Amino acid sequence: MLRIAMVAILFAVGSSVSVAKPPADTNYDETKVPSYELPNALIDNAGQSVGRDEWVAHRRGEVLRMFEDSVYGKTPSRKLAVKYEVVETDSNALDGRATRKQIAAFFGDDPYRLDILMYIPNQATGPVAGFVGLNFNGNHTIHADSEIIQRGTAKARGSSASRWQLEKIIDHGYALVTVHRDQVDPDNYRNDFTDGIHPLFYDEGQTKPEPTEWGSIGAWAWSLSRVLDYLETDGQVDASRIAVIGHSRLGKAALWAGAQDTRFAMVISNDSGCGGAALYRRCYGERIHHMIKPVGYWFCTNHQQYQHREHALPVDQHMLMALVAPRPLYVASATNDGWADPKGEYLAAKHAGPVYELFDKPALSQSQPPVPDQPIHTTIGYHLRTGDHGITAYDWEQYLKFADPYLSKP
Ligand code: GCU
Repeated sequence: MLRIAMVAILFAVGSSVSVAKPPADTNYDETKVPSYELPNALIDNAGQSVGRDEWVAHRRGEVLRMFEDSVYGKTPSRKLAVKYEVVETDSNALDGRATRKQIAAFFGDDPYRLDILMYIPNQATGPVAGFVGLNFNGNHTIHADSEIIQRGTAKARGSSASRWQLEKIIDHGYALVTVHRDQVDPDNYRNDFTDGIHPLFYDEGQTKPEPTEWGSIGAWAWSLSRVLDYLETDGQVDASRIAVIGHSRLGKAALWAGAQDTRFAMVISNDSGCGGAALYRRCYGERIHHMIKPVGYWFCTNHQQYQHREHALPVDQHMLMALVAPRPLYVASATNDGWADPKGEYLAAKHAGPVYELFDKPALSQSQPPVPDQPIHTTIGYHLRTGDHGITAYDWEQYLKFADPYLSKP
């Protein structure tokens, strides 16, 4: 019963409604945040403090492995054979402003299909920069465009358009590329890793991931890198100027993708919360034990041992963001999104700073989050939007502005 109730709450949020009824033990009281000490990204596992060279040579890898073992699980390194087929293209999409392309990517021998939808601005004079992100409910939900291949209900066409702001992105000169998360790994509490991409990587006789192997977030992050592989083959896009972006659970996936795959030139987390941008050790809003029953499959099984023991994690999320350094990183929160702990999201971004500073990149200096609707843009960007859990035109306006100095020119 409890499980069903939790799932109802969680999935309501997944489709962008604020949490109506958080679990009774949720802490929303700043005075009840325990005192905590964050693991130091710049002291290695042998206890030595590290500078830039050591960070690059071994500490970065150490931190990455700790995230694999204790949070998201290891992504298989084996490469699958892949074939791309441009299924549809229209150079007169969005009233002539964009070229729409739909590409089927087929992985492995018994081909596993992912549908990549992309829009490229027609004003472009050469390969363009762009944003890559997963969508929640199907490619055809991101815009009302009737030519987007429909998987799922017709009624849903265009239903997530406000989350994508496609015209704004195109008019700003960027491409947008997206894939449906459920095509990579279905996102539901019955998930047993049999119907997404995991089985393509199982060893003989294996039926589910090992305790430190990837869950759904790992799979989603993997797919973002596979989209980037495709973009490297597409002459209309400059794959060296691609931002990976995600909202909420898909923001967790974007952070993990950007942490692992340094080809992403920029990483954007929108309201990603627990297991995303927020510090675990604050124990504010959503916590590990809240996630286990409804969405434990997002993480590796080993993650579960940290329920009620956040202090014992060998990492915290400032170190995930440190893995993005020295590339530009943006973290955004919303005032009514206590479940995602906006302050914890800010603090994690701020505490990634010492690693950015190793590369002489300015980081967030103020100790507290800024007031609502006053973005800070250094190499790390942050804003706290007034309003609910969601990704809005305001959020996209900040991302576009932030991206320009880094992505707009080759
Ligand atoms: C739930 C879940 C969050 C997640 C969110 C979403 O609220 O608890 O961790 O970020 O769904 O993806 O919308």
